[in-house]
Amino acid sequence: MADGYLEKKFEEFGQGAKKTVVKHSSIETLMEKNRSFRGYKKDYVVKREMLERIVSVNTKIASAKNQQVLRFKLVTKDTGADIILQNMKLGGLLPELHLPFPDTEPEAFIIICSTVPETKFVDIDLGIAAQSMLLKATEMGLNGIMIGAFNKAKITETFDLPYEPLLMLAIGKGNEKIKLQPVDEGEKLAYYRDEQGTQFVPKIRWEQLII
Ligand SMILES: Cc1cc2nc3c(=O)[nH]c(=O)nc-3n(C[C@H](O)[C@H](O)[C@H](O)COP(=O)(O)O)c2cc1C
Repeated sequence: MADGYLEKKFEEFGQGAKKTVVKHSSIETLMEKNRSFRGYKKDYVVKREMLERIVSVNTKIASAKNQQVLRFKLVTKDTGADIILQNMKLGGLLPELHLPFPDTEPEAFIIICSTVPETKFVDIDLGIAAQSMLLKATEMGLNGIMIGAFNKAKITETFDLPYEPLLMLAIGKGNEKIKLQPVDEGEKLAYYRDEQGTQFVPKIRWEQLII
């Protein structure tokens, strides 16, 4: 079996509705699939309800002192995605490619804001929230990326945000081939692409992460 932890779960949709079998992947599989995508399928439109489902995982995650200071602005194709695109950067390590390629731009975003000034603990909450949401998106058959390189002032002004935006997630159906590549400590860690366009993401072997 490809996924040793595959389990089946029955979910009911509405009262007395028919039962649907939902296959759940192991956390290992989800984490492997959860790569940072910088190109998306244009013919797949992410709906607001999908973003709502993704944000809902925040009711189940850890939070420093359980303060839950993060808030989320949902942006879809028809509610300002084009403005976000003009004010963010993807693929800083591959500047010559000018990612995203035309017609592969992401068109749905979750802007993560904090109700309090940024501190170490806000940032830890932020990382937990961002990774949890991307894993949920992956479970839903979607892909995404965290985006820290964006014009905060412009995004705040455009969406009339009451709180400081700290990070954005792009969400969509990825159209890229991305592979993890185990490397030794000291080797190059920058992601790169081969002639076919496959992206390789070097990750230090787990044995070398233990001190
Ligand atoms: C906090 C944070 C901010 C990031 N910001 C950007 C960004 O602005 N643009 C971008 O292309 N990638 C961004 N990334 C994605 C990283 O480049 C990516 O995680 C890294 O290359 C490893 O690839 P992987 O996520 O597929 O493992 C960000 C990642 C993190 C964790």
